[in-house]
Amino acid sequence: MLAPGGTVGVLGGGQLGRMLALAAARLGLKTHVYAPEPENCAYDVATARTIAPYTDETALRLFAASADVVTYEFENVPAETVDILAALGARVAPGAKALAVAQDRVVEKEFARSIGAATAPFFAVDDLASLEEGLKRIGRPAILKTRRLGYDGKGQTMIAAQATDLGVTWEQANHKAWEEIGARPSILEGFVDFACEISVIAARGRDGAVALYDPPENRHGGGILRASMVPARVAAETAGRARDIAERMLHALDYVGVIGVEFFVLRDGSVLVNEFAPRVHNSGHWTLDACAVSQFEQHIRAIAGWPLGDPVRHSDAIMENLIGEEILRWSDLAATRGWCLHVYGKGEARSGRKMGHVTRLEPRRPDGAQGR
Ligand SMILES: Nc1ncnc2c1ncn2[C@@H]1O[C@H](COP(=O)(O)OP(=O)(O)O)[C@@H](O)[C@H]1O
Ligand SMILES: [Mg+2]
Repeated sequence: MLAPGGTVGVLGGGQLGRMLALAAARLGLKTHVYAPEPENCAYDVATARTIAPYTDETALRLFAASADVVTYEFENVPAETVDILAALGARVAPGAKALAVAQDRVVEKEFARSIGAATAPFFAVDDLASLEEGLKRIGRPAILKTRRLGYDGKGQTMIAAQATDLGVTWEQANHKAWEEIGARPSILEGFVDFACEISVIAARGRDGAVALYDPPENRHGGGILRASMVPARVAAETAGRARDIAERMLHALDYVGVIGVEFFVLRDGSVLVNEFAPRVHNSGHWTLDACAVSQFEQHIRAIAGWPLGDPVRHSDAIMENLIGEEILRWSDLAATRGWCLHVYGKGEARSGRKMGHVTRLEPRRPDGAQGR
């Protein structure tokens, strides 16, 4: 168990790293943030920073020597970085397996199925011929996504139900989709006409103990999370199914830390795994204000070998992301009672950039589901 005064190394310097550093500080732990960007909002609140490429061995050696445990806030850290750190004897959590599975959408879906969870129909696409083959099997509409490096809806394109709607031939439509995602290894997914989306934020400790938060209901716009609401408007059995899947994933990956698993809920109450993030997750930000132990503190506790905290929710909550210029409303939001404002301290309010979030709390209704 890492005692107060110890150091947590964090790969990645965005808002998730920033909120991890704040949570670590509350427990008396120091943080060392490592990222390649010269400017990053996590640097402002970390004890130490290293600005270097992810594969700079010299910088990684110094980083590993300074940290008692290393984690990441960004799942696209190169596998090579984790290999170098492991070779240096660093303790990395979550481990290399979770990272490798989460980095490739095909491997991720195969993994979900291997633990008995359902997913959308999918087909691995490597060229135009396999795209055509996939469309024959899966049908239209469908979504083509890059296997790697996609986030916030980037690296995805919709394949319409009818090519003729667009005034083009099937062949032209396929070609356009393939070009749009940069003609790279991809996954074709059947388009899921879901009732809603939910996610499970869960943690597993070094001792194998698991803590699960109540699943929020998530609303996306243009592929970016706009809002999360707890409790989700789903039956208790539906929430239970999602939580069971998240728990099985944690054990199968021999996971240590917080995971975010995204689900599509179908009209019959069944759930499909969409994807998972091997890190704290945007749809868990409400836990900062609605739970005694947030997902950030939970992650720090897990990787530091501490006992997991109680994930119980004391309030109902709606978290809204402040994207791009929405952050300019900060002073009005700060003036509204019952609204908890979080500003990430990023520079320019570029469109599509997550600049902060606000969580509205309401007294918890007695019949809501319970974290465990
Ligand atoms: N197969 C699908 N069917 C219907 N909607 C989808 C599908 N895949 C993704 N989406 C929508 O796009 C959003 C972002 O896609 P996701 O696969 O989660 O990528 P990202 O890594 O960008 O979060 C999802 O939350 C969902 O709203
Ligand atoms: Mg997603």
